[in-house]
Parts: sequence; structure tokens; C-alpha cells
Amino acid sequence: MKGERMMRDVNGFERSGEVAAERLKRAGSVLIIGHIDADGITASSIASVSLRRARIENSVHFVKKLDEAAIKKVHAHPADTFWFVDLGSAMLSKLDEDRCIITDHHRPEPLKEEVLYREGHVNPHLFRIDGSTEVSASGVTYMVAKKMNPQNQDLSAMAVVGAVGDFQESAEGRLIGYNRSILDDAVALGLIRAEKDVRLFGRETRPLPAFLQYSSDPALLPFITHRRRMSIVDIINEDRTAHDEDHMECIDLVRKAGVEIVDGGSLRTWSQLTRDEKRRVVSAVVERIIEAGKGVATVRRLIGEVYSLSPDLPGSPPGWLTASTENDAGKADERVPPLAMRAVLDAKEFATLLNACGRHDRPEVGLAVCLGDRGKGLEEALRQQEDHRQSLRRAIDLIRCDPEFGTMTVTRGGTALSSVRYFNARDRIEDTILGTVAGILIGTAGIPADRPLIGFALSGDGTCTIKVSGRGTPVLTAMGLDLASAMREASTSVGGAGGGHNVAAGATIPEGKEEEFLLVIDRLVNGQLSPSA
Ligand code: C5P
Repeated sequence: MKGERMMRDVNGFERSGEVAAERLKRAGSVLIIGHIDADGITASSIASVSLRRARIENSVHFVKKLDEAAIKKVHAHPADTFWFVDLGSAMLSKLDEDRCIITDHHRPEPLKEEVLYREGHVNPHLFRIDGSTEVSASGVTYMVAKKMNPQNQDLSAMAVVGAVGDFQESAEGRLIGYNRSILDDAVALGLIRAEKDVRLFGRETRPLPAFLQYSSDPALLPFITHRRRMSIVDIINEDRTAHDEDHMECIDLVRKAGVEIVDGGSLRTWSQLTRDEKRRVVSAVVERIIEAGKGVATVRRLIGEVYSLSPDLPGSPPGWLTASTENDAGKADERVPPLAMRAVLDAKEFATLLNACGRHDRPEVGLAVCLGDRGKGLEEALRQQEDHRQSLRRAIDLIRCDPEFGTMTVTRGGTALSSVRYFNARDRIEDTILGTVAGILIGTAGIPADRPLIGFALSGDGTCTIKVSGRGTPVLTAMGLDLASAMREASTSVGGAGGGHNVAAGATIPEGKEEEFLLVIDRLVNGQLSPSA
């Protein structure tokens, strides 16, 4: 990138954080502008707590995207300093240099060195630290918070949640690079336990059979039901009976491994199993994987490092976990079961909860949970999560089952695409969950991960524009895929704007430009994946 330095320079990165911290400490009042996803929400909470501790007046304003209209609104705010977290680098040239601090991990717009390295702009990419895999915005914000005051080390746990929320542990199955030092800070304070375990989602909250049945990275169901599926049904023709049978097979597998599913009248979760019980279930699962002829790759994704959070994170009331269990024990019809509240004890589940709040226009609820609300705030966040799950289920069904909205490799105008696959959900999927949907779908049955998946939907802000989301895989990025630059160039070429990361990027384009956009991004991705062609 133009202006970017050649060598990895952690000291330089931290020095830029120190400069930002000094400026923040001199501020009279600060408006924090945060992005609405898990990383943006955790980053906003870190910024807010560090300012509060420094006795600096502050408030948080969340935005879905930072365009010129949003920037104009921010600049009109009476605060003397604006702290942009998880956004800002892509709009650097439009931000008031004297009043803005930016802690971001997205690739900055290509600008002259003196603009990129100006005081108050803190971004790992400028120092050859990869903002997609090595540190997220919450990590960058945490680094600055710790420079403001070493006592802010206890905010490290939130930075780990943010990094996991941005899938930074996904490619290697563990946090790497600068994230490692943030994790060390959290482990040293006893706020996080990092251990080798199965990486599946729902260790704290999902009852054992559902934990296996609904796993997606890797999906275990095809292996668990392998024998039955071979003889009777096609996976695509799944119906209610198949669904129930799947559930029974998962129960069967756990029981045959000699592990009880129920304990004292309640369903057990993975986190409640002993080491030996976990080992027995994993052996049974691995046996099925090998039997189905898929070995190492799936097993490698199954096991990795997982991050358990202490119930006593900064701000949370002491003893809340025991209290919530006791209070709810007698209320069978309580809407939020105590088990669900354990979501804040696992980094991946916590991040998913925050994403659900943000994607459903309630980022402030997620922020309250980050700040320690384990009462009404947490209950509301869990309700948001249930709504979020239903929206995702509906969206995935639409793309999978409705031929009018299914994925395509030929444009409407009839041109065959060589390097991207796409779907156009029009007004049927909310723009805020489009990226999540594309991320879930890529690599599932009928949607191979041999090329990135691009989703289109009508923007939800009434501007007659189209939201675009693109998702790749670590294998594709290793082959040269850089969706951020392809998305930026293709959207700009049709009068829109976009950016993001090599593996996940987004854009907004004018309505009616989808065809033209697809032709450009297809050519660009083709060039990235076959550079000599
Ligand atoms: O919205 P979506 O989840 O697809 O965004 C993926 C990534 O692309 C995010 O990191 C987001 O900040 C970035 N993005 C962007 N410009 C846009 C839309 C998304 O930089 N117009």
C-alpha cells in the first residue's frame, strides 16, 4: 500500500498508540464513534471505561457505516475530541486532524505517508501488523487504553472477545500475533482461561446433543449421521423427521461414549463435562469422521484454543452468576433461562451475543453488557440473539430453498462469472445480516468455497442503494484473494464505496449497478487468484 512501511514494527505501532493516549488524556470531552459489530462494541466499551477512569466526560455513538453524512454529523457535535473505533481509517482524509483519534484495523485508504502517519491515527497495517488476523479494533483501542493508564490492563478480556468476534482465531484455531500479548494480559489477571478444546460454538449454553447437531465449523452432523444418510435420505431433502433423527443420533453418540446428557434434571453443556468425558465424546466423533473418509482437515478444525471468561469481568456485579441461577431456578416459564446467561463466559458466545445486538440496531444493549450489566441488559441482549437466530434461519432458507434468490455464477445479463459466486436477496434480507449470511453459506452444500461469495441486498436506510457483502476463506486468501481491495475498486468504479478485510469486505453501490459491479469484481478476483493469467 502507498505510504506503508516495509518492516513489521511493533514498537512503532505502540508509539503511535502512546501519542493518541496523550492526546486523549488532555481532552475535555470525547464523543466515541463505534461500529455496530462485536469488535466495534467491545472497542467502544474499552474506550468509554478508559475515559471514565481518567475522569473525562464521554458518550458513545454507534454507526453502521461511516459515510460523509455521518462524518458531518460527528463534526457538528460539541465534544472537543472524537474517538473513532473500528472505523475511520477508510475515511481518514475526511476527518478533522486536530480533533480526531482513530483506533482502527481496517486497511486505510491509499494516501500520502504524512496523512497516514499523522498523530492520532493508530492502525496496525501501517506497521506491517495484519489487522485481519493479528489485532482487531478492540485490541488497538485496548493498546491505547493501556498507554493511558496501565491499570486498564483489566480491559484486555474485552479485547479478546472483540478479536474472536472478528474471527481472528479462526484460520489458525488460536489467537496469533499481537493478539497473543493481549491474551497474556487477560490470562495474567485471571480474567481469561485459554485451553485446548473443541472449537465448536455453544460450549457454555448449548445442551450436548444440540452442540454436536448444529455445529458449523466444522459441521459434524454429516459424519454423525453418515451411516443412516448413506442408506436412506439425501441431505438436501431434509425434513422434520430427518431433523428429529439427527437429534436422536447425536444423543446416541454421546450416550454410547458413556456420557450422561442430563444432570440433576437439567441438560448438560460441553463446559460441564469432565476432561475424560470430553475425551470420550471427541474420540467417538473422530472415529465417525475417519469412517466417512475425511480425516485430518476436519479434525484440525475441530480442536483448537478456546477462551473462557471469568464471571467477574470489570463492572459486573459480584456473585451475579450464582444469583441468576438461584433466582430463576423456580421459574419454569422464565423467558431467559439461566443457562443462556452463561453466554458471557465464552469469548465466542459473548461475541455472538454482541453481534446480534448490533445487527439488530441495539448496539447500546451490547455495550451495557460489555460494561458489566448482568441484569436487564443481558436479558435484552439474549432476546436480541433469539431474534437474530430466527432472522438468520429465514435468510439462509431463502437463499438455499427459493430458486429466485439462490446463488448464481451467471449474471442476469447472461455473462458467466469465472471467479465469484453471488446471490441477490433484494429486500428479503436485512442489510445488517447480509455479511453474516454470506459467511455462513460459503462452503456449505451446493455453495463450494472455491471462490468468494458476494451477497446483494437493498440498503436499509432508505437511500435507494445496494448493500454488498463479500466473504472468502483463509484458503482463498492464502491463494492471493484480497476482497477489501477488490470491493473498494469495484464499488468505486460504479459510483459506490467499500472496503474491509482480505477475507470479509463490504460496499454500498447505487441501485441498478449490480451487474456492472459483478463484472468488475469478477475480473479483479480472477487477477488475484491467478496472478500470472
Ligand atoms: O457489512 P459486512 O459484514 O459485509 O462488512 C465486512 C467488512 O467490510 C467489515 O469489516 C466492514 O467494516 C467493511 N465494510 C467497509 N465498507 C462498507 C461496508 C463494509 O469497509 N461500505
